[in-house]
Amino acid sequence: MIKTSDAKKSSARHLEKLDKQYLWHPFTQMQDWAKSPQIIVQSGKGPILTDIRGKKYLDGVSSLWVTVHGHRKREIDAAVVRQLKKIAHSTLLGLSNVPAVLLGEKLVSIAPRGLSKVFYSDSGSTSVEIALKIAFQYWQQQKPVYRQKTGFISLAESYHGDTIGSVSVGGIDLFHEIYRPLLFKTRKIPTPHCYRCTFGRTYPDCKLFCAEQAGRVIKRYCHETAALIIEPLVQGAAGMLMQPPGYLKKIRHLCTQHNILMIADEVATGFGRTGKMFSCEHEYVSPDILCVAKGITGGYLPLAATLTTNKIYQGFLGEHRDLRTFFHGHTYTGNPLACAAAIANIDLFRTEGTLARLQPKIAFLAKQLQVFGEHPHVGEVRQKGFMVGIELVKDRKTKQPYPLEDKAGIRVVLECRKKGLIIRPLGNVIVLMPPLTMSTKDLKRMVEIVYAAIERTTAG
Ligand SMILES: Cc1ncc(COP(=O)(O)O)c(C=O)c1O
Repeated sequence: MIKTSDAKKSSARHLEKLDKQYLWHPFTQMQDWAKSPQIIVQSGKGPILTDIRGKKYLDGVSSLWVTVHGHRKREIDAAVVRQLKKIAHSTLLGLSNVPAVLLGEKLVSIAPRGLSKVFYSDSGSTSVEIALKIAFQYWQQQKPVYRQKTGFISLAESYHGDTIGSVSVGGIDLFHEIYRPLLFKTRKIPTPHCYRCTFGRTYPDCKLFCAEQAGRVIKRYCHETAALIIEPLVQGAAGMLMQPPGYLKKIRHLCTQHNILMIADEVATGFGRTGKMFSCEHEYVSPDILCVAKGITGGYLPLAATLTTNKIYQGFLGEHRDLRTFFHGHTYTGNPLACAAAIANIDLFRTEGTLARLQPKIAFLAKQLQVFGEHPHVGEVRQKGFMVGIELVKDRKTKQPYPLEDKAGIRVVLECRKKGLIIRPLGNVIVLMPPLTMSTKDLKRMVEIVYAAIERTTAG
């Protein structure tokens, strides 16, 4: 008779074989994947992921920045099941559905002031594509003098997704350089990143020189610019680069002053990640267009939304023959199951006081992170809420980075796995993005594992 554990092992081996045989994983060098041990997740609960061999891991990156209240949250499970008993999908093209309508109201109620219309899609990238197309079309439908407002300004090193439009406004060459011939041209403003300041200045003595430089570009090109797009406060995929206080507000002011739309991409920062529902709130900023995805369903189902002001929405109204319609839509736009999950996710913020309970944990995490203090191979620890970047450097004094071939970040992450923590690096930056409900005990354990892994992999 085959013992249960043996059966489990052989079925695990079988799944691993199938994975290698059939799957092509995103952002993954499959040549390495084929050789490396893999983790196939079977289940999850709270902050824990369990693999097919029964090994448990802390989910230190919220399953790629999406899990908010933890895995298998009772209220979200129930909302999805309730909706499943009614209908799984119907279209928003020419029809509507109950959860999509109710979620629309809820999103507007929590969004920064002035955003009052909701356009659904299914990923962060599509929410950005939609924002860009709306901004572009908006100006085309204004007075003729505005028809030349066709371009976009974005931050160097920004990341807005992997579709062609979002890559065009992005700036991470490592990911996207090869696609350059496919992209439309955009203007870039310098990344406001104090640790490696482009201008060699120091905050606050610099008096936000980076924003002043951004102002020059905006002023010069505003007549041909539809919108500026920004990840407010934290440029996530660039390596958790944090903007200095006051920068976002200045950018908002410059956009208004020079009559260009401001698109805030809160795909990563939204839904409590930075300690407020949306990171724009830290600087009392309202964008003209807001992109949200990732945490919108609490990490359950693919859903995104692009919110706009009524003024922009009005710019698309007209007779059928005027062709001012926004001709854009995805098949699963406003999917009822995803919208039901999103409603339950947002309701939990209120019923569980998620943001209030998060504040002391943010401070607790900051305290734990002090352990990296003067570590010779940690250049900087950056934190905003539950978004953390630990930048590994070869030499702390000179800030010399590890070369790509050292795979410094990858080695740390693999070491963490052995100790039961799943995280994912961004180059030399170790990213921590735990679910907002992770306990202080688990936060402490997470930091301890990372510290030990950095010690072990950087020694010698
Ligand atoms: C700021 C930002 N925008 C857009 C995206 C793209 O989202 P998705 O992967 O859902 O297309 C991401 C993904 O990490 C992101 O961080």
